[in-house]
Amino acid sequence: MTAMNATTEPLVKARNVHKAYESLEVLKGIDLDVMPGEVVVILGPSGSGKSTFLRCINHLEAIGRGSIMVGGEQIGYRLKGDRLVKLSANAIARQRSRIGMVFQQFNLYPHMTVLQNIIEAPVGVHGENRAAAIENAERLLARVGLSDKVHSYPRQLSGGQQQRVAIARALAIRPQLMLFDEPTSALDPELVGEVLNTMRDLAEQGLTMIVVTHEISFAREAADRVVFMDDGHIVEQGKPDDVLGNPQHPRTKAFLARFL
Ligand SMILES: Nc1ncnc2c1ncn2[C@@H]1O[C@H](COP(=O)(O)OP(=O)(O)OP(=O)(O)O)[C@@H](O)[C@H]1O
Ligand SMILES: [Mg+2]
Repeated sequence: MTAMNATTEPLVKARNVHKAYESLEVLKGIDLDVMPGEVVVILGPSGSGKSTFLRCINHLEAIGRGSIMVGGEQIGYRLKGDRLVKLSANAIARQRSRIGMVFQQFNLYPHMTVLQNIIEAPVGVHGENRAAAIENAERLLARVGLSDKVHSYPRQLSGGQQQRVAIARALAIRPQLMLFDEPTSALDPELVGEVLNTMRDLAEQGLTMIVVTHEISFAREAADRVVFMDDGHIVEQGKPDDVLGNPQHPRTKAFLARFL
């Protein structure tokens, strides 16, 4: 393994990514590489384009210009001659199945148990063997500390527990990349810690993660790199201690001053 590291390719390669909603330019040329196993935290003010960028990575939004590669494949398009051609819905679904996403609102299926929520995509969408999917779900629930909730319904769980189920559900498709969009913002303050701890464990276990969050302490402890976005640009990035402890850009300084 280690001998190969020198030549390891980034898992995510975003190049000059532009995105506009009608005349509103939201992403204005984003370049970002994420290495396998790396944990990148994206910070930035409201409206700076963080969610839009995450949504572009799994093609929930189409980009206007530039390219996003995940695992060596361009997301949403393929090259035909020198032209980009849109991928079919099936091909996009296949790409998306390698990327797990966790949102602020956990959106579990209310009429399904925890177990059913987790095996739905592997069995229903990917045709995985049911017994194997259940075994995997049980392993994932142990990983997020919810082995005792296998047969509970979402309404019987706290917000923090529901979010941990949502994380287990995202992991059930065995993603090579996990995207988190403010996963703790909808939680009562006392429930934030348990979700962040789960995410810290995943980070330590080597999962590749891009996390949008306002939890500065998580960024400091769990991130390999902190990226600061402002107005559709990455204005600064680096090691957490550098970006958080000694920000260089005035916009980063102004943003971080709010958390002191
Ligand atoms: N579907 C959409 N249609 C039109 N405009 C949109 C859409 N989604 C986002 N926007 C606009 O794009 C800009 C960036 O939004 P985005 O949600 O990416 O910001 P953000 O950095 O995630 O902000 P927050 O911290 O508040 O979540 C905002 O001005 C927003 O109003
Ligand atoms: Mg957002």
